[in-house]
Formats: sequence, structure tokens, C-alpha cells
Amino acid sequence: MALRMILTEGNPTLNKVCRPVTAFDERLATLLDDMKETVTHANGVGLAAPQVGVLRRIVVVDLGDEIVELVNPRILEQSGEQDGLEGCLSVPNRFGLVKRPNYVKLEAQDRHGDWYEYEGEDLIARCFCHELEHLDGHLYTERAYRMLTEEEYEKLMRENEEENK
Ligand code: NI
Repeated sequence: MALRMILTEGNPTLNKVCRPVTAFDERLATLLDDMKETVTHANGVGLAAPQVGVLRRIVVVDLGDEIVELVNPRILEQSGEQDGLEGCLSVPNRFGLVKRPNYVKLEAQDRHGDWYEYEGEDLIARCFCHELEHLDGHLYTERAYRMLTEEEYEKLMRENEEENK
């Protein structure tokens, strides 16, 4: 396994539409393992393949007890609404306020091509939406109704530091 470099906002790869995965091979398995290692190392909740420069429909999401691999994911159902802070490993040191559905159910393939369904609420639902949008070339900054100011960001970081003491 190896860490992959995370591309940041401004890199044109992040604005491209990804193609479906058709080959469930060793290369895909290596990419998924690397993406899991990379998202854990970066303390992220989710990571999409275009963020590591691969234009394929692949996402990993940390559900807390495991990191799931979502290949060719499709949203099946969504409901409710949540309003809260969102960040992205490709948009370092910034946060914005984004409205998202509070519940999301999706289907996706694993590294072998088998289909599974996943559902999540709150942060997981937010993450599913955020990561799937990466696959269509969109960043949450396009969707945020307000980005935090530098002062608000610094205050948030200080509060987080206090909590982690
Ligand atoms: Ni992101």
C-alpha cells in the first residue's frame, strides 16, 4: 500500500466527469487500498478517485467501524435535510455551510464487482453526497451557501484544539 498525493482546488482533474469502472482487477484493488490508507492518513471521512488523479467512479468512506469501498456508486434514495459545516481534503484550511439530505441510501460495487447497498444519516449521508459529487467534477464550494471567513475558521480551529486537549 502507498499514500497517494491529494490534488487541490484549481487542478483541472477535479472538475472532470469520471468514467465508470469496468475492470475489477489487481490495479483497482491497489488503488482502493491506497485510497483507504490515504484518507486515514489525512484524517478525512471520505476520498474520491479524482482527488488522487484517477478519473474513475470510485469513492472510499470511513463509516467509523470500517472504510467502505464504493465503486460505480448510485444514490437510490434520499430524504430530510441537514445544514452544517463541510470541508474537503482538496480544499485545505477552509470550511463552508452546505445543506444536504439527512438520509441517503446508495448502491455500489466492491472490488470484485459485487453490488451492495449502504445507507447513512447525518455525517455519513453528507459524506456520501459530497464524495459522489466529486465523481461528476464538483466541489462542495460550488454548493456552499456561505464559506467561513478566516476569523471564523481560526475560531473553529481553536475550539477543536480545546476539545482535543
Ligand atoms: Ni471532498
